Amino acid sequence: MSVTQADVAQGFRDLGLGDGDVVLMHSSLSSFGQVDGGADAVIDGVLSAVGRGGTLVVPTLTGSETLNPENPPRFDLRTQPCWTGIVPETLRQRPEAIRSTHPTHSCAAIGRLAEDLTHDHHRSLTPCGMRSPYFRVAMAGGYIAMAGCNLTACTTFHTVEEIARLPYVCQPDPAACTCIDRHGETVEVTCYLHSYAGPERDFPALEPHLLAQGAMRFGRVGPCEIRLIESLSLIEAALDELRSDPWYLTVRRGSAEHQEEC
Ligand SMILES: CC(C)(COP(=O)(O)OP(=O)(O)OC[C@H]1O[C@@H](n2cnc3c(N)ncnc32)[C@H](O)[C@@H]1OP(=O)(O)O)[C@@H](O)C(=O)NCCC(=O)NCCS
Repeated sequence: MSVTQADVAQGFRDLGLGDGDVVLMHSSLSSFGQVDGGADAVIDGVLSAVGRGGTLVVPTLTGSETLNPENPPRFDLRTQPCWTGIVPETLRQRPEAIRSTHPTHSCAAIGRLAEDLTHDHHRSLTPCGMRSPYFRVAMAGGYIAMAGCNLTACTTFHTVEEIARLPYVCQPDPAACTCIDRHGETVEVTCYLHSYAGPERDFPALEPHLLAQGAMRFGRVGPCEIRLIESLSLIEAALDELRSDPWYLTVRRGSAEHQEEC
């Protein structure tokens, strides 16, 4: 049996999302089984769950490991496809969507807080810092939804890593990047790009803590498993763990001999 837009809306409401809520969604369309209406039905289902006062944000990432200060990104937010799946790629092309101006970690949003959450992303010195939509979703009391994917794909953990100034997150020197904004204007952006050389991450390690705190719930739409997490709780819980173990978010967790290095 196929999944419909109404099923998506009901599944997200059953998880506790309601009118006025803000949700940042990472997704895998194929995990829903066959969806009538494809990516648009998923988008409209979530928009319906959060109502006219709510906001849906998706990551529209474009960065890659080939980028560095010698090979800085040039990003045109009007045309550059993202690699985070068909749902964000479809949402960002809607006329009412607002995409943030960032050379590697842009987000697109639809809804009441779309402008507030996306503006000034280009002023963030690190991709997911305090001026990014990832942090602002948390400040707005928003949620993160992982639809058909687990916490491995949760970009907000990079916000945590950047706030904690973990030395492996960003490249040592800033890059002079160029963005073309939604008005076609050129914006020069100085940004520390992510490093792809850091240790292997293990973000799902935080899951038991989030469940124990009641900050994460599981739901389902057809065959798709959905995790709904309070964004601010995730950031606070991860920062808390990092205070006693700077490798907490990596597979090196608990390796005391590396702690000085980090
Ligand atoms: C990588 C990832 C997007 C792959 O998921 P996916 O389901 O294979 O891909 P998409 O979400 O793009 O959906 C497209 C697929 O849906 C399927 N599909 C197409 N139409 C469909 C429909 N109507 N109903 C259901 N599935 C459909 C197809 O298999 C299609 O793949 P194809 O184009 O290769 O044929 C997903 O696993 C993931 O990780 N998502 C999160 C990404 C993210 O936010 N990362 C942040 C990193 S910091």
